[in-house]
Amino acid sequence: MPTDPMPDFPAGFRWGVSTSAYQIEGAVAVDGRGPSIWDTFAHSPGRIVDGSTGDVACDHYHRHTEDVDLMAGLGVSAYRFSIAWPRVQPGGTGAANPAGLDFYDRLVDDLLARDIDPVATLFHWDLPQPLEDAGGWLNRDTAHRFAEYADLTAARLGDRVKLWITLNEPFVHMSLGHGMGVHAPGRMLLFDAFPVAHHQLLGHGLAVGALRARSTSPVAIANNYSPVRLAGDTDADRAAAAAYEALHNRLFTDPLLGRGYPAGQDFDAGVVRDGDLAVIAAPIDVLGVNYYNPTAVRAPEEGSPLPFDLVPLDGYPRTAFDWPVAPDGLRELLGWLRDTYRDDLPPIEITESGCAYDDAPDDTGRVPDPERIAYLDGHLRAVRAALDDGVDVRGYFVWSLLDNWEWAEGFTKRFGLVHVDFDTQVRTPKSSYAWLRDVIAASRRAPAA
Ligand code: FCB
Repeated sequence: MPTDPMPDFPAGFRWGVSTSAYQIEGAVAVDGRGPSIWDTFAHSPGRIVDGSTGDVACDHYHRHTEDVDLMAGLGVSAYRFSIAWPRVQPGGTGAANPAGLDFYDRLVDDLLARDIDPVATLFHWDLPQPLEDAGGWLNRDTAHRFAEYADLTAARLGDRVKLWITLNEPFVHMSLGHGMGVHAPGRMLLFDAFPVAHHQLLGHGLAVGALRARSTSPVAIANNYSPVRLAGDTDADRAAAAAYEALHNRLFTDPLLGRGYPAGQDFDAGVVRDGDLAVIAAPIDVLGVNYYNPTAVRAPEEGSPLPFDLVPLDGYPRTAFDWPVAPDGLRELLGWLRDTYRDDLPPIEITESGCAYDDAPDDTGRVPDPERIAYLDGHLRAVRAALDDGVDVRGYFVWSLLDNWEWAEGFTKRFGLVHVDFDTQVRTPKSSYAWLRDVIAASRRAPAA
C-alpha cells in the first residue's frame, strides 16, 4: 500500500473514469438498437474465451443512474463513455433513431447535474453490422458514413458534451480486429489491413469537420501507445523495433499531426487519394493517450510474416492479463510524444489507464484490490513526473469505472474500481475506489501546483 502522499496536480486537472458502450450497456435489442460487429462476433462460437456476450454486460442502459451516483461518490470531474453507433443509426445510414439518442441525452443531463463533464467517444469498435456487410472500414464509404453519424449525434448533444473523441484506438481496431482476427470483425489480413487504418483516419478527419459545425467543444482522438523496448542489440533488432514503433505509435499520429504516413511501412498505400492527408490533419484540440504497457521487440525469426517479433518484457510485476506494470513506460511515452511531435503536439489527456486483477469480495463483503492501488499510484506519479518534465498533460481517466465485458476475454478480466457481480448486477466499490476518491479530494484542496 503506498504511504507517501500523492504530489499535487495542477488546478483544473481533469480526473475521470472511462467505459465503452458494448462493454457495459447491455440492452442490445432495446429502443431500436441495431446489431453491431461485436454482437455478431460474440455470438460466433469460439471467439470469446468464456463463451459470453455483451447482451447484458453491466446492464448500464437500465442502471445508469446508479452508475452516475458511483461517479459522483468518487468525485470525478469527467466521464468518458462511448456512444453506440447502432443505437443512433441502427442500419448504419440514414436518419437518426431518436430513442437511441434519448438514452445519451438523459445520461449527459444526469452527468451535468452532478458536475461531471460528459466526454463522448463516437466509435469504440461497435460498427453497425450492415456497414460491415458492405466492407466495413475496408470500404472508403464507411468514413463518410462515420461523418454523417457524427453530425447526427452532435446535432443532439453538441451543446452539452464537453469533449468529443472521434475514434478509440484505431490501431487496436486495425491490428486485432482486421490484422490478427482476435477482435471483431475477425479478419486476418496482416498488413493488407492498411485500408482500415486509412479509412478510420479519413473518417476521423471528416468527423472533426462535422463536429466543428455543430459544437464548440474541443475535439480529440484516443490512440493506444506503447513505448518500444529493444530486446536485442543487433542492427536487425533495431530495425525491427523501428518498424514496430512506426506501426503502433506513429501510423496513427504522424498523419494526424500533419506529417503524412511514416516512411518505410510495408503496406500498399494505393487507397490514399489526393487531399486525404489534409482532411486527416484537421487540427485537434487534445490528443487522447491510452497507455497500458511497453512492448519488447526483437528481429523476427526467419520466414515470419511480420517484420518484428514481440517478446515478454521482463523485470516488472504483471497483471491478471499478464501485462507488465510499468509506470516508467508512461513517463517515457509522454516524453517521446513531446520530443517527436514538439510544437505540433496538442495538450494530452490520458484517456485510459488501468489494470485487471482477479478481484473478489472477502468474507466481510469488501473487495480489497491493493495491486490496483499500487498501479494507479505509480501511474499518477508518472504523470506528475511528466508534468515536471514539461509535458502538457491535462487529465487522467481510469479504465474502468466498472468491471465489464472485456472483448475476447469476456467476463474473465476485471478492470473496475467497482466490482460487479454479473449474476446479480450488484456493484461494490473496491478499496481502490476509496483510495482514488481520497486522492481526488486531496488534489482539489491543494494549492495550485
Ligand atoms: C483498451 C480498450 C478498452 C479496454 C482496455 C482494457 O484497449 O480501449 O476498451 O478493453 O483496453
